[in-house]
Amino acid sequence: MKSSKPDLRTRLGPLELKNPVMTASGTFGYGMEYEPLVDLNLLGAIIVKGLSLKPRGGNPPPRIVETSCGMLNAIGLANIGVEAFIKEKLPWLKKFDTEIIVNIYGESIDEYGELANRLKKLDGVSAIEVNISCPNVESGGMAFGTDPYVSAQVTERVLKNTDKPVIVKLSPNVTDIRLVAKEVERAGADALSLINTLTGMAINIERRRPVLANISGGLSGPAIKPIALHMIYQVVKTVEIPVIGVGGIMNSRDALEFLIAGATAIQVGTANFINPRATMDVIEGIRRYCIEKDITEIGELIGSLEIN
Ligand SMILES: Cc1cc2nc3c(=O)[nH]c(=O)nc-3n(C[C@H](O)[C@H](O)[C@H](O)COP(=O)(O)O)c2cc1C
Repeated sequence: MKSSKPDLRTRLGPLELKNPVMTASGTFGYGMEYEPLVDLNLLGAIIVKGLSLKPRGGNPPPRIVETSCGMLNAIGLANIGVEAFIKEKLPWLKKFDTEIIVNIYGESIDEYGELANRLKKLDGVSAIEVNISCPNVESGGMAFGTDPYVSAQVTERVLKNTDKPVIVKLSPNVTDIRLVAKEVERAGADALSLINTLTGMAINIERRRPVLANISGGLSGPAIKPIALHMIYQVVKTVEIPVIGVGGIMNSRDALEFLIAGATAIQVGTANFINPRATMDVIEGIRRYCIEKDITEIGELIGSLEIN
């Protein structure tokens, strides 16, 4: 007999999620804007916009442009800063029956440590997601995440400053993402998430100028899904810790591909801008698929890819 209520619970190390569907950082604000449209209680987790120690205005406009099957953004990590988040957003977010994961980024290894320390004792913060795709100001602006050893150093520093589960979010702008994944695992991360955006640009041919004021931006959306999926496939074979899939997931079919490839959970990003209820549709679609295929626990699906 087919189970009408598949068990969608999944684990990211010490953290249990009621289902594998989360919001990708930077595409869901701090949840407030979506609350009239989405039942936040149904989400596996909300990952909030990346927070820095001090508030940041971000880059000058234009900072978003639509491209074929995707978008480029150069928001420049605009955010309200960790203190305002703790005071103004966290008390509201805590009311919901979901996990709150705080995405952080620093301009130096010290800043990552300070941020983790600030969030350490806070009730309502379930885990920290560390964005290492941002420029390392101390060493000339190259992203932390492009160097496996610096990525490991950031991970170690965050772990030293918190008891909360630590997810490290990897950059795809590297030659072999497995090298970074391996070092970050060795440093002690509880889970990995991948991928962040791929660097790209667009040019206005009338003005013969870059469309984005920042010249380049991060590419996201359906255009990057095959790349993200392949990286997940590679990384799950390389590390033992859970891997979270993100990149171009627009619907439940996309999400299922990532789960079958071995992702323990997934994040919905750019899709939220097109369909604010995308996360709800993805959860429902996964549930329906499980019922149809007689899957009683999501674990039966995760990593079930067959080759040959
Ligand atoms: C407008 C925008 C803002 C983003 N801000 C962040 C951020 O603050 N921190 C972070 O780790 N990732 C950030 N991301 C990356 C997304 O979380 C995600 O990794 C990426 O967009 C790929 O997923 P998608 O194709 O489903 O959007 C941002 C993406 C977009 C489009």
